[in-house]
Parts: sequence; C-alpha cells; structure tokens
Amino acid sequence: MADAKTINPNAPTSETVLAVKHFTDKTFSFSLTRPPSFKFRSGEFIMIGLMGEVKGRVKPILRAYSIASPSWDEKLDFYSIKVEDGPLTSMLQHIKVGDKVLLGKKPVGTLVCDAVLKGKRLFLFSTGTGIAPFASLIRDPEAYEKYEQIILTHTCREVGELKYGYEIVEAARKDPLLLDIFGEDFGQKLHHIPTVTREDFAMKGRITNLMESGELFKHVPGGAFNPAHDRAMICGSMDMTLDTKALMEKFGLTEGSVSRPSTFVIEKAFVG
Ligand code: A2P
Repeated sequence: MADAKTINPNAPTSETVLAVKHFTDKTFSFSLTRPPSFKFRSGEFIMIGLMGEVKGRVKPILRAYSIASPSWDEKLDFYSIKVEDGPLTSMLQHIKVGDKVLLGKKPVGTLVCDAVLKGKRLFLFSTGTGIAPFASLIRDPEAYEKYEQIILTHTCREVGELKYGYEIVEAARKDPLLLDIFGEDFGQKLHHIPTVTREDFAMKGRITNLMESGELFKHVPGGAFNPAHDRAMICGSMDMTLDTKALMEKFGLTEGSVSRPSTFVIEKAFVG
C-alpha cells in the first residue's frame, strides 16, 4: 500500500489524447481530457509532458504550454511546435488518439483579462505558436465584454504557418456560446490580421515594422494607436516580445501583471 507521505498532491495527472492535427512539418495541435477539478483562466499556461529517458532514468519530461481552449470548454487544446531533437516535442509530435499525456495542476500566466485594464480595442500580437493563448482568449465572452474590438495579429515566416490562426478565428466566429451572448453581428468584434515575412502575401512584414510605418492601423477599425483606450497582449519569441513591448511603451502603454493590472502584458511563447 502506498505510504501517504509519498503521494505528491501536485503530481501531474494522466490525461487521454482526444484529437491530434498536424498543420505543417513544424506544428501540430492536440486535445486532452480535462479533469473536473482542473480550473484555469483563459490565456494561462500549464506544464504538459510525457515519461521519457533522461541520462538513463525514466522520468516525466514537462514543458510549459499555453492552453488554447477557453476556460469554459470541456476539453483542453494545445498548439505545439515540433523540435526534431527537442526532449519533449520529438516524442509528443507522435502522440495518437487514446495515448496518455501528463498534465500539471497549476495553471499560471499573465495573458489574462484580469491583468489588463478595460479599454476599447484589445490588440493580441502573436508570432508562430505564440498564437495559442489567444486561441483561448478569443473564445472567452469576458474578452468581448471588456473590450469593444479584439484585433488578433499573427505573423509567421511562411503562408502555410498561418492556417491554425484562420481555423481558430473561424471557430470563434461560429462559436454558439459567443453568438448566443453577443448576437449575429458578433464576428465584427473580432479582427484577424495575418502577416508573413518570408513569402509574398497580402500583408507582408514584421508586426513591429507594420506598426511603426502605420500600415497596420490602416486595416483595423479605429485607426491610429491611442493609449487612452488601446490595450495589448504580446506572445512570441523573446526578440519579438521585447521589440513589441518597447513599441507599446513608445506608444504610451505600461506593462501590467495579474497583481498590478495595466495597459499591456507579455509572455514569451514556449518551445515545447
Ligand atoms: P522574420 O522572418 O523577419 O525573422 P521565428 O520563427 O523566428 O520565431 O519568427 C516568427 C515570426 O516572427 C517571423 O515572421 C519573424 O520575422 C517574426 N519576428 C522575429 N523576430 C521578430 C522581432 N524581433 N520583432 C517582430 N517580429 C519578429
């Protein structure tokens, strides 16, 4: 019989894979069962993992993953990069429906509505798999109650990498819960601005450059950036996060946190 002292209440739970979808040779999404006791705020992240061998010993290999489904959903969605020699993603990219994945117990994070003050427009700036927490937020009614317009930007190197973004935006616009609360015209509150840096595309360039040139603001309702009522969340690589943060500060916003809400928040995207 297990000794009560050896049972760790924070130990990950073992969840079942419900779906897997491969988007490109570098990205895939998957869904897991959600334990009834697992509570989180839309936009938070959690440790995800598999048992693996590290220096000859089998142990849990866990990495931080943004939850890509909203807090009210029955299942948990994730969007992951595939790193060929990554300790976790080299194994995780091969999961199949019915497999087990470890799920941590303590969701945390700053990309939550509680950390950003009320405003008119909420900009969600993402690159690559940094879009994942925003897949959660754009399906949460709270975001649309707090902000009149939500502008999701997603910048990738290649056009093919934008597909996940198109799918989550379409799913949000058709979400029965959001349509029920906000009515038929609800889709007009959500704006999707995909941009590409290394291939030809309608909107070409880094989001930082598109903001500095003013190009982005020609394509969003409300025009130029206004710190009096614009708010932002940032999620991408370390460089993108820091450059976009500097730009927000130049535009007159100040960084907030859950304990001190302000006008923008950041979180770097995690590499599984
Ligand atoms: P670029 O192709 O000009 O490097 P990555 O895969 O390296 O994380 O990049 C994802 C996307 O983020 C790419 O389109 C890339 O543009 C863009 N990006 C990379 N660094 C920055 C940065 N410092 N500021 C804004 N966008 C960036």
